[in-house]
Amino acid sequence: MLSSLSLTIIFVFFYLNLVWQAGTSPIDGSKTKNSPPAFFVFGDSLVDNGNNNFLITSARADSPPYGIDYLSHRPTGRFCNGRTMPDLIGEQLGMDPLLPYLDPEMYGKNLLKGANFASAGIGILNDTGIQFVNIIRMPHQLMFFEEYQKRVAAIVGSQKTKKLVNEALVMVTCGGNDFVNNYYLVRHSLRSVQYKLPAFVRLLTNEYQNILMRLYTLGARKVLVTATGPLGCAPSVIALHSRKGECVTELQRAARLFNPQVTAMIGSLNKRLGSNVFISAQAHHIFYDFITKPKAFGFEVTNKACCGQGPYNGMGLCNALSHLCPDRAKYVYWDGYHPTERANRLIVKELFNGTKYMKPMNLSTLMSVDSNKG
Ligand SMILES: *[C@@H]1O[C@H](CO)[C@@H](O)[C@H](O)[C@H]1NC(C)=O
Ligand SMILES: *[C@@H]1O[C@H](CO)[C@@H](O)[C@H](O)[C@H]1NC(C)=O
Ligand SMILES: *[C@@H]1O[C@H](CO)[C@@H](O)[C@H](O)[C@H]1NC(C)=O
Repeated sequence: MLSSLSLTIIFVFFYLNLVWQAGTSPIDGSKTKNSPPAFFVFGDSLVDNGNNNFLITSARADSPPYGIDYLSHRPTGRFCNGRTMPDLIGEQLGMDPLLPYLDPEMYGKNLLKGANFASAGIGILNDTGIQFVNIIRMPHQLMFFEEYQKRVAAIVGSQKTKKLVNEALVMVTCGGNDFVNNYYLVRHSLRSVQYKLPAFVRLLTNEYQNILMRLYTLGARKVLVTATGPLGCAPSVIALHSRKGECVTELQRAARLFNPQVTAMIGSLNKRLGSNVFISAQAHHIFYDFITKPKAFGFEVTNKACCGQGPYNGMGLCNALSHLCPDRAKYVYWDGYHPTERANRLIVKELFNGTKYMKPMNLSTLMSVDSNKG
């Protein structure tokens, strides 16, 4: 009697475990057929969803009014009033927001949905963001990805782990800090003395390629890559270097050199690999359209931050003492450097459904290529 009861329990447990391992929750029917089994995010503050909350660093967004429009209406570590690009990509795919990899809840079943490894302040180069001290630089994010795979393999085995990673959507966003928080951080910075701008851009592009190849080696096969937005148009940059509120020429020159080289590098990587592993989102162009044609997108303010202080509301950090704009949906920039949720939403719309700025394909096409195979 006792033994047959325990056998039943073991059987039920085994059955649930199988269902769970197959990646389909028996209760949740809301997942669409096209949703990827997992989603991984790497990069900087544009995509960090709270890893820095668990670190001793000054690069953090864990106090109000950050998060004022988020689902919880509380600060989470996202550098935004609401949802960021990964949140909105996940939403489009029918997924809950990812957990930051350092979150204590990141174990067991939660691991199988993917993870966000991004950390505000980091760049492509190891020496970017040294002023933030304790942040997760790219080599470390990639080490965590390796560690993650070992942890998942301990649960579902290495074959299933490999499949999960191969089929996952991966997003990488970095590069902006290598200019803003390194090359142009101070006049005569070490890097700017060492390299003229075109040579620095070549260095960044080469190092970015190394990062992407490392991701490939670790099993990533569907990788969305963005370079930088229009760096010279960020309110923090305008507050410091602009006379009449116009975009700053030198940082725009940097963004305009860097972005096409990243797109070209991705094109040749794909050619070398014989497969469209990497998708380039020309974030600079997508975002620059908001600034040059704000009315077409329903924006009214492009060169002032919604949350901040001083000229263009772009000085210092966004915090409880800052001036907060009344209508966040009319602003392109939330703080001195990061887009509002509304701007993020428009970018994500372009990522999925755009035809002009996505090379060699948009995410809708990538995901349908996916489902045809599966
Ligand atoms: C960055 O640091 C890692 C070790 O943490 C090292 O392996 C890598 O080569 C460094 N990258 C560069 C470009 O120096
Ligand atoms: C892309 O277009 C489809 C079909 O029109 C729509 O359902 C979907 O919401 C769009 N995606 C985004 C992110 O706007
Ligand atoms: C995505 O890109 C393809 C190919 O460029 C294009 O035909 C399509 O209209 C775009 N949008 C969607 C929703 O697929």
